[in-house]
Amino acid sequence: MATQTTLSDVFPLGSRINERGRLEVGGCDTLELVEEFGTPAYVVAEDDLRARAQAFTAAARSEGHEDLRVVFASKAFPCTAVLALFAREGLWCDVASGGELHLALNAGFAPERIVLHGNAKSEPELRMALQRGVELIVLDNFDEIERLERLLGAGARGAGEQKVLVRVTPDVRGETHDKISTGQADSKFGFSVAQAGEAFARVQGVDGLSLQGVHAHIGSQLLGLDPFRAEVAELAKLGDFPVWDLGGGLGVRYTREQPPAPAIEDYVGALVRAAHAHEGGVRRRLLVEPGRALCANAAVTLYTVQSVKQNVSRWVAVDGGMSDNLRPMLYASLYEAHVADRFDGATECRLAGKHCESGDVIVRDARLDDPKPGDVIVTPATGAYGFAMANNYNGVPRPPVIFCRDGDARVMVRRETFDDLTARDVG
Ligand code: LLP
Repeated sequence: MATQTTLSDVFPLGSRINERGRLEVGGCDTLELVEEFGTPAYVVAEDDLRARAQAFTAAARSEGHEDLRVVFASKAFPCTAVLALFAREGLWCDVASGGELHLALNAGFAPERIVLHGNAKSEPELRMALQRGVELIVLDNFDEIERLERLLGAGARGAGEQKVLVRVTPDVRGETHDKISTGQADSKFGFSVAQAGEAFARVQGVDGLSLQGVHAHIGSQLLGLDPFRAEVAELAKLGDFPVWDLGGGLGVRYTREQPPAPAIEDYVGALVRAAHAHEGGVRRRLLVEPGRALCANAAVTLYTVQSVKQNVSRWVAVDGGMSDNLRPMLYASLYEAHVADRFDGATECRLAGKHCESGDVIVRDARLDDPKPGDVIVTPATGAYGFAMANNYNGVPRPPVIFCRDGDARVMVRRETFDDLTARDVG
């Protein structure tokens, strides 16, 4: 049965309810995807990722700032297919560990387009970054400056100096969940503003390091632009450097009820204009590090209902949960949910996961159209930090990542098997 319901922009670009009344993502009928690939599954509209990457680069161009690099924060969706797509779109890549560096290189990012982060970089991670020749290492603390000095002294880098940025916590707070707020003075990340001068001096005293500029990342899922402007103003006070890396943090819309997030164009425009206002005659390289804004709305998760029961609430339990989407558990994040082929009705229920914890509830106040066992449920906006934080709690294999485009579906990461759960056993 066809329906009049239109999908909100929470869904991937190009999603629609097709003639059979079923959700279609990337031209693929989601119920057919389920028949072929099973549930739970992450379904990604490839063209959505591409469009958002292009929106960032186009916005940079239209603001007239040629030297603005869009650096994908790979932690948001650390999957080779996603990284390779962004590499082909000309983005740079932010990595925060040796593992993410490995993924980025393997996906085709040239080292000259990679930025290494981390507040606890190990010696092997720093050595790997030096040897592979990453473009920038973002320094977080005095210990790693010493560690780098030792590694450089021991010949860990081939030719040329290693370019670095100094990360500062500018004491600018955006409105977001405490666990993902990073700009406040009492943060585990970066140098305080008061320490920045000493950090610059220490770096300049190390042979083989070249201080390029400063970095800040004030938080994630920020829905206002003023904190970003304030961040730029604080960075500007630190001196005239050729590079400012403004971090990521642009928020997205997770549910229809949530007001729209700032558009990519408005975000980039606000940053560029703030940078120009504090330019002091220097046309510097600007870096932005979006993670969520590039991929959250590009994907949906598909589940199958296993049971429906009524006590105080109506509980609809599906075959996934906190193993494929930890965000409701960690940050009380809100999602919307629908039966993938019935969008009209509104039975109030709790969409629960299959895990052995009462907190494993994917959507607390869901409105589903008469959900029954066997129905396919979709939660949109699960592209960022879902796959990234997926886990095997309760021995649940992690879902596949399926790319959809023009009606073609390709498995880019296969579903884990029970054998994968025992694959690391030795002896
Ligand atoms: N740059 C740095 C240095 C970061 O630490 C982060 C995120 C980003 C960029 C990208 O931020 P985004 O544009 O995605 O907001 N697991 C949490 C998010 C943690 C973000 C950590 N850092 C969540 O699911 O909301």
